[in-house]
Amino acid sequence: METMNHVCKLASKCKHAGEEGVCNALCSPFMLLHGEGNTGLWKATNVPAKYRNSFFDTLPIQTDNKPAYAFLKAYTGNLLENVQNGIGLFFYSIPNAQNRLGTGTGKTTSAVAVLHEYLLLRVIEDSKGGRPVEQNPALFYKASELQTLYNAQFRGTPDMQEKASLRYYKIKKLLMKAELVVLDDIGIRQKITDAFENELTEIIDARDSEVLMTIYTSNLPIEKLADTLGDRIASRIEGMTEQIAFTGKDHRKGGVLK
Ligand SMILES: Nc1ncnc2c1ncn2[C@@H]1O[C@H](COP(=O)(O)OP(=O)(O)O)[C@@H](O)[C@H]1O
Ligand SMILES: [Mg+2]
Repeated sequence: METMNHVCKLASKCKHAGEEGVCNALCSPFMLLHGEGNTGLWKATNVPAKYRNSFFDTLPIQTDNKPAYAFLKAYTGNLLENVQNGIGLFFYSIPNAQNRLGTGTGKTTSAVAVLHEYLLLRVIEDSKGGRPVEQNPALFYKASELQTLYNAQFRGTPDMQEKASLRYYKIKKLLMKAELVVLDDIGIRQKITDAFENELTEIIDARDSEVLMTIYTSNLPIEKLADTLGDRIASRIEGMTEQIAFTGKDHRKGGVLK
C-alpha cells in the first residue's frame, strides 16, 4: 500500500512517517485530517490555496516583524491551552510611507499558520485518546466572502435564494461553534449594512460568550474599526483579543499583477 508521508501534513511530526504498512491511507489520524479523496478536516478549513502551506516554521515575518514573530512563537508554544482559554488575536497593519494601505505584511499568512498548527495539534490530541474532534475545529473566512454569502440569500430566483440561505446558515453555525476561527480582512469595505452588522455581532458575540478563540486580521487599527463595523463589534473584538501590529513593505508586490 502506498505510503502517504508526501501528502500528510502530520508527516514532519510523526515518527511513523514513510513506514511501510503503517503510513498509509488507513492510518486514522491521516483519515481524520485528509479523509478519503481529500474530504478531511484539512480541506474543510476553507483556507485559500495560496496559504495552504503556511506554518509557524516557515513564517516569512521574522526579520520585518520581530515583535509579532516573538509573540507568535510564545503563543504557539502553548497553543492548545491558549486556544482553550479563548485568547484571541487581532493582527493589524500600521500603514507607512512605503506601504500606504498596510497590505502584504504577513497578517493572513500568520493567522493561517496559527490555524494550521492548531488543527494538527488537535488531530494528534484526538489520536492519542485525548479530547475527541467532534466537528471541524478550525475555520477560515474572509469577512467579504461571508458578506457575499449573506447577500446571496436576497439575489436571484427563489430556488437560488433558498440554497444560498441554507448554505449561509450552515456556515454561520460553524463559525459560531468552531474552536478556532480566522476572520480575515475585517473592516476594509465601506460601512457594512445594518443587517450584516447584526449577523456579524451575533457570530462574534456567540464566540465571545463561549470563550472561543478568534483571530481577526485588518488593515485598520482597532480604534478605526468602529467606523466601518460599528461600536458593538469593535468593542467586542477589542475585549477578546491581544493586538499585534504588523509593519513593513508590501510583499504582495513584485512580478505578478495585483
Ligand atoms: N515579511 C515578509 N517577507 C517576505 N514575504 C512576506 C512577508 N510578509 C508577507 N510576505 C508574503 O507576502 C504575501 C502576502 O502576505 P499576506 O499574509 O497575504 O499579507 P497581509 O495579510 O498582511 O496583506 C505572502 O505571499 C507572504 O508569504
Ligand atoms: Mg491579508
